[in-house]
Amino acid sequence: MPHRTLIRGATVVLPGELARTGVLIEGGRIAAVGAPPHSRADEVVDADGLHLLPGVIDDQVHFRDPGLTHKEDLHTGSRACAAGGVTSFLEMPNTVPQTVTVGALTEKLARAARRCVVNYGFYIGATAGNLAELKRAGRTPGLSTPGIKIFIGSSTGDMLVDDQERLEEIFAETTLPITAHCEDEATVRANRARLKAEGPLTVHDHSRVRDHRAAVTATLRAIDLAVRHRHRFHVLHVSTADEVEILAAHRDFVTAEACPHHLFLDTSDYARLGTLAQMNPSLKTAADRAALWRGLIDGAIQIVATDHAPHTLEEKEAAYPASPSGVPAVQVVLPLMLNEVNRGRCSLGDIACWMSDGPARIWDIVGKGRIEEGRDADLVLVDMSLVREVRNGEQLTKCGWSPWHGTTLQGWPVRTWVGGRTVFANGRVETEPVGREITFDHGRGGYWATQT
Ligand code: DOR
Repeated sequence: MPHRTLIRGATVVLPGELARTGVLIEGGRIAAVGAPPHSRADEVVDADGLHLLPGVIDDQVHFRDPGLTHKEDLHTGSRACAAGGVTSFLEMPNTVPQTVTVGALTEKLARAARRCVVNYGFYIGATAGNLAELKRAGRTPGLSTPGIKIFIGSSTGDMLVDDQERLEEIFAETTLPITAHCEDEATVRANRARLKAEGPLTVHDHSRVRDHRAAVTATLRAIDLAVRHRHRFHVLHVSTADEVEILAAHRDFVTAEACPHHLFLDTSDYARLGTLAQMNPSLKTAADRAALWRGLIDGAIQIVATDHAPHTLEEKEAAYPASPSGVPAVQVVLPLMLNEVNRGRCSLGDIACWMSDGPARIWDIVGKGRIEEGRDADLVLVDMSLVREVRNGEQLTKCGWSPWHGTTLQGWPVRTWVGGRTVFANGRVETEPVGREITFDHGRGGYWATQT
């Protein structure tokens, strides 16, 4: 008989409603929603006063494995996920070697099977010369990948593809969904040269080098490609108010995400955080930050993802611009958002849409994203009254720091299940590689094709 777990007494965040009801897990799946409190089970979890959410699906992480494992690896990154209520992640191709061939992707999947505590998927990255591999990835039956990542704007890992002819080819000839880092390289270079001529750069200049115009120009360019080629497209880490407006005009076709650093930090934070607040796209103004929240609430931005990008403290302490861009966030993203629920900015239903159902629909993920009978038992139990401070010393990411160190938040995950198995409870985090390869069914057609 498969192991049966009954979670009873929790307020369950279901599609469209919250209900105080029992959830029965059997054989790694949700066997029943609405299970009576005395249902037969091998294990009963009394969850009075707690809320049960679908596990978070983070569609943008950089876990540095292989090749940069002094910063993070698939084991440490996935354990940080488990402690943060993130039950599935999609990882970016800027590792060493880069994930730019079907072979490298297959190798990464095999590596993940040996190391990951939560579920995993990997993008295939575009280069100026791997069109054949991108096409092959779309034609390889059973190959697990959410889609193609293009750096239309350079960042960590030297993967820039901004030649128009190459971009046209990729959008015209490939079949997998495409996502992109949008910052216009020509604008960034011109800004950098101009500012350098005025004097030595400091981290405050990062938002002038990678300015509004860089983000808006590249996002417009990418959306133009997607619309002309009728190619499914998702904009990563939106950072400006102008992009929110552009996205609002293209809703029903393009999808987009906002990251916690752009939602919770702005240019005023350089004074406090220095290069710990350096990331690409750069932080923008408080007005941009407010616009991102409005975009989420209004639906111009559909999801929240972290862009978890760990670098060691030693690396981050280098003087700008030698300091690398990126911040870690998988362990804190859910508490940051739950704190906003407590502050009245959004609801638990919004969190489930933005962080579970939305990413599952955008990337055609099979069996995840909602608490529904038959779906995978990837779940997170949260205590909305728990107040705790984010501490560097408690971060499971190998880099061991958080830009939110010292921030007090109300609303924290207390238990996480991946495929029905507890991977985080009572402060203990799983070490066995119980995560599974995510299955994608791109025939579903993505977010806009699956509106319910
Ligand atoms: O700040 C960033 N860091 N943005 C990216 O797009 C890449 C990331 C990294 O991999 O370090």
